[in-house]
Amino acid sequence: SKKHKVCVVGSGNWGTTIAKVVAENTKEHSDIFEAEVQMWVFEEEYQIPKDSKHYNDETSHPRKLTDLINSLHENPKYLPNIPLPKNVVANPDVVDAVKDATILVFNLPHQFIGKTCEQLKGKIVPYARGISCIKGLAVSDKGCELFSESIGQKLGIYCGALSGANIATEVAQEKFSETTVAYDPPAMDSQHPTPQGTPHGSHTDLTKLEGEAKGLTGKKMKRTALPSEYPPLHHKNVKMLFHRPYFHVSLVSDVAGVSLGGALKNIVAIAAGFVDGLGWGDNAKAAVMRVGIMEEVKFGKMFFGDSVQTRTFTEESCGVADLITSCSGGRNFRCAKMAVAEGKSIGEIEQRELNGQSLQGTGTAYEVNDFLKKEGKEQEFPLFTAVHSILEGKKKPEDIPHLIDPNRGEE
Ligand code: NAD
Ligand code: 13P
Repeated sequence: SKKHKVCVVGSGNWGTTIAKVVAENTKEHSDIFEAEVQMWVFEEEYQIPKDSKHYNDETSHPRKLTDLINSLHENPKYLPNIPLPKNVVANPDVVDAVKDATILVFNLPHQFIGKTCEQLKGKIVPYARGISCIKGLAVSDKGCELFSESIGQKLGIYCGALSGANIATEVAQEKFSETTVAYDPPAMDSQHPTPQGTPHGSHTDLTKLEGEAKGLTGKKMKRTALPSEYPPLHHKNVKMLFHRPYFHVSLVSDVAGVSLGGALKNIVAIAAGFVDGLGWGDNAKAAVMRVGIMEEVKFGKMFFGDSVQTRTFTEESCGVADLITSCSGGRNFRCAKMAVAEGKSIGEIEQRELNGQSLQGTGTAYEVNDFLKKEGKEQEFPLFTAVHSILEGKKKPEDIPHLIDPNRGEE
């Protein structure tokens, strides 16, 4: 019988961390997975800094990042000082990296996923399954889509989502955290039983389900049955790929809730950074977080309908826990705070502080605002709208209390 081959598409701070997590598990569960994990790297030249333990004659000049990762078993640019398992193999060729992979883990800054999917079209096995670890939304003229769905549609595969309170460096250092995985087959057409709403941790056998079916939020997702030589990709085996003693996985069926929590909290974290940058303290930050989680749930219910469950936001790692961690130590929070404290733009701070890592909150604030404007709903999301107005320079961080005041309209 065959084993599942895994490819992580992306190798930034979180992409490399997830490759580490997954590679530890593929090695441990060698009856189900091939040990080797391919990790696609957007190739670049990198110069090891002089004060690094890796600096020597060989590394005293810029080298290809893939060569460095494969020889040092570390990603010195995006996840320095974290040893990677030797079964993580960096590959600069995305088409070669996904060859024969039955499980594709998408983990890239959200602005790059569209182009990457274009390169992958027709190059993956038709029975592959995807998991999106991307925190962002795919906003276009067509509206607002989850990345799990846009990836699923573009590549003709079923794609779930992983998201949680997961600051990458902490997970990489094997400090305890939880995460949420939404992985359920799309609701089936009439000849198949509908597995939607199955309890947490149930063992739906996705391998036997085939055909074009409606996704959890109503979008069509094609799915080709997995050949019978492969172990089934039911919940238990999907969980096995990500769960570690230091990284606890909870499985749910609410793909939209999981994806929206991860995307929208980035806007809230910017607002939290703004008020903290003013030196306003924890009460102000808590107020922003309170309004933020309400807007997350409202956005989900308004635009993704009944598939979104409030408890995904209030009870799962991908909801309130991600909001808290992101507003405490996340990059969006830290950069927004420095921007206000130093009187600089967030973009300037991002360039200076993140060494090529990418903030997702600024782009998402603009994209969500575009979408809300088109829907005529800006006023119903005062915090999301305030962050956009501040980024645009039309309002100031000091205006936030007024902008989110529910009695504002009565003045
Ligand atoms: P990152 O912020 O480290 O971004 C750097 C990555 O972007 C590098 O791999 C770089 O090669 C790549 N890149 C740059 N230009 C590119 C291009 N033109 N095409 C393709 N790739 C390009 O990335 P990350 O932290 O791995 O984030 C990936 C996703 O995971 C994001 O949606 C993020 O919100 C989410 N996430 C991040 C964290 C975290 O703590 N870092 C935690 C959870 C989720
Ligand atoms: P930042 O991208 O703001 O660092 O947030 C990381 C994250 O998603 C934590 O769960």
